[in-house]
Amino acid sequence: MCGIIGYVGQKNAPDIVIDGLKKLEYRGYDSWGISIKKAKSLVITKKVGKISDFHDSDSLPKGSIAMGHTRWATNGPVTQDNAHPHTCCTGMISVVHNGIIENFQSLRKELAHHTFTSDTDTEIVAHLIEDNYKAGMDLQGAVRMALKRLEGRFAIVAMSSEYDEVVAAKKGSPLVIGVADDGYYVASDIPAFLDHTNEVIFMEDGDVARLASDLTFTDFEGTDISRQSKPISWSVEQAGLDGHPHYMIKEILEQRHTIKEAVSHSDAKILKVADMINKAKGTFFIGCGTAGKVGMVSSYMFSTIAKKHVNDVVGSEFPNYHDFLTPETLLICISQSGETADTLEAIEVAKKKGCKIVSIVNVMGSTMMRMSDEYILCNSGPEKAVCSTKATTAQMAILALLAYACAGRFEEGKRVLSRVASSIDVMLDENYLDEIQFLSKKVAGYESMYIIGRSQNYPMALEGAIKMQEVPYIHAEGFAGGELKHGPIALIQNGTPCIALVANDAVKTEILINALEIRSRGGYIIGIAPEDNDIFDFWIPVPDLGIASPIANIIPIQLMSYYTALEKNCDPDKPRNLAKSVTVK
Ligand code: AGP
Repeated sequence: MCGIIGYVGQKNAPDIVIDGLKKLEYRGYDSWGISIKKAKSLVITKKVGKISDFHDSDSLPKGSIAMGHTRWATNGPVTQDNAHPHTCCTGMISVVHNGIIENFQSLRKELAHHTFTSDTDTEIVAHLIEDNYKAGMDLQGAVRMALKRLEGRFAIVAMSSEYDEVVAAKKGSPLVIGVADDGYYVASDIPAFLDHTNEVIFMEDGDVARLASDLTFTDFEGTDISRQSKPISWSVEQAGLDGHPHYMIKEILEQRHTIKEAVSHSDAKILKVADMINKAKGTFFIGCGTAGKVGMVSSYMFSTIAKKHVNDVVGSEFPNYHDFLTPETLLICISQSGETADTLEAIEVAKKKGCKIVSIVNVMGSTMMRMSDEYILCNSGPEKAVCSTKATTAQMAILALLAYACAGRFEEGKRVLSRVASSIDVMLDENYLDEIQFLSKKVAGYESMYIIGRSQNYPMALEGAIKMQEVPYIHAEGFAGGELKHGPIALIQNGTPCIALVANDAVKTEILINALEIRSRGGYIIGIAPEDNDIFDFWIPVPDLGIASPIANIIPIQLMSYYTALEKNCDPDKPRNLAKSVTVK
């Protein structure tokens, strides 16, 4: 949620910042801005709209120090004034920010002697720094002193017209430093500077970094601290489009191999986490949005495979359970970004009670990974489309393997997941894509659609609905097949598209009957199933994977979401109102 990049070095900083912002656009894309140090002044450019629509970098002044921001609005509407960077009254200090300053209203009253030009919480930081600056502090000291006044989560980067440096600080929201021969980079995420370096330092909460001709760190009190860089294995190719028109389709198709990579961990790692689950007295699967649905699917898998009851709770609701937490409670936190504020808050609540934390995350070095006692990486490579696809199936694969490991059937689990991976590779051929693209033309003509599933495919009905909502803006809802007759069936009209998720499992007959109930009321049945059936108006074949069927069943809906968005001229990578990493509560 909001992307930041700053640079100090020998290259032309504005080019690096504009290019980096384009790579961070998945984090927010309603407006953007850049601050460039030119001689003894800061030149600031801000625009409403997507940074990807800006092709005029030559119009910007050249310089060796700059920082930029791409915004997902929280405080204040989408206007040029509210776009970052924000400045102090004189314009000599500029600030970009990701996160929420929770005490901004009281601070704003306190700073009434300043002239405010935006509605944002961020502008407060510029004025706080300004006051500290006037009191005689240098930029780094003035930033540090300002930070101490802030409550909430934030990543902040600041510049001054008087200093040849950029100061970056974080608490709660991510910031990573890139170390290169040409200079230093700071960004919300690695792909922003991956073209220039893969040598990184993940900033810790409470760190203040000063990027100048050298790189130094202190804590918020000003005590020097040492941070070492390390190489990261992500490649520029992985982070780019690699010939695809959109990240979303690239990432969907990468599922041809990402399931295999997701479960490529040492036996010792998986068995260690399985042992933690087996020993825990009370396990909670926590995630938000799609990751929350992965938690829900996993609770079915753990029931069926490991005969183990686990609780699945969405991150924002987890604090309600604090009375039931003990040092023997285990949280399994599921997240692509590892930065989702609601899930991080759940971890904070659990840590206060001494619970153990395991995270299943895709982004190496993320806050969640670093807050966890143990972690398993999804190994999916960067996921940049706002809509999660390959990380979702990777998480389900890891959790299915863990369920087998908990049941003492680890080798069987490996065989099952290997078959899942190879059958999805075979499934995703060109004909398959063409069929779903053809069907999407019909779906695009409807405002609403419904998805039904039972047992472990019920959470996938909910997840399928998220896919159809967030990208092609279809009013989609997922239901447990058995719930239809308790109300939702009243919504079915002639021709309404309804997806039935069918697996060769104990509830196959029941879900087919539910599909028939919809068809009898005029619904158009799209069956996602290993075999065709007379009840289906349109059949999308999927491999017969039994308990692991959700991993395959969601993929055709991901494709339908993508192609339906194209039919409706929606941007598949940057859906309206959304951002990739939801770093606000
Ligand atoms: C997925 O398609 C959504 N964009 C969203 O629900 C997402 O899964 C959720 O915000 C959680 O993100 P995370 O996996 O990075 O924690």
